[in-house]
Amino acid sequence: MPANRLSISQINALPSAEFTRIFGPVFEHSPWIAEAAADRRPVDGLEQLHAKLCETVRTAPVEKQLALIKAHPDLVGRAALAGALTSESTTEQAAAGLNNLTSAEIALFQKQNSAYREKFGFPFIICARLNKKDAILAGFERRLQNTREVEIKTALEEIFKIAELRLRDLVFS
Ligand code: GUN
Repeated sequence: MPANRLSISQINALPSAEFTRIFGPVFEHSPWIAEAAADRRPVDGLEQLHAKLCETVRTAPVEKQLALIKAHPDLVGRAALAGALTSESTTEQAAAGLNNLTSAEIALFQKQNSAYREKFGFPFIICARLNKKDAILAGFERRLQNTREVEIKTALEEIFKIAELRLRDLVFS
């Protein structure tokens, strides 16, 4: 988390490329969202900035929404175990206690990740900073019963929560 957060007036004054560089990582491997929102300034606060970023995702074609969902790593997935996550994802998975699992728990996550991907064709997304291990495992069980349409909506809503927390790390409010 950067030590120097930006004020809203600083954010409104940033050149577009600089805005995209700073806020691109609010959405995992998907800088197109910040890039589009750069032209939708000024904003009057963090909530409005978040709302405009989310609006960009909500109004994007479903293919782009799916690409955003698929840009997320599995929880306790191969990239996590190899230490190959973005710094934001590393912090998030650690916040849920996922860096400290027994080998049986790791195997359970891998089984559920595979079952979820097999059914829906994208990774299971839950805001890891707002859920601990047991809540995440319960989420797998419950959400595996849903339709794909419901899960696309749920994944986007979870991504919006992830984005809000990432944004709060970058902005004074
Ligand atoms: N995949 C599932 N949940 C999360 C999350 O909270 N953060 C990241 N980066 N990836 C995820």
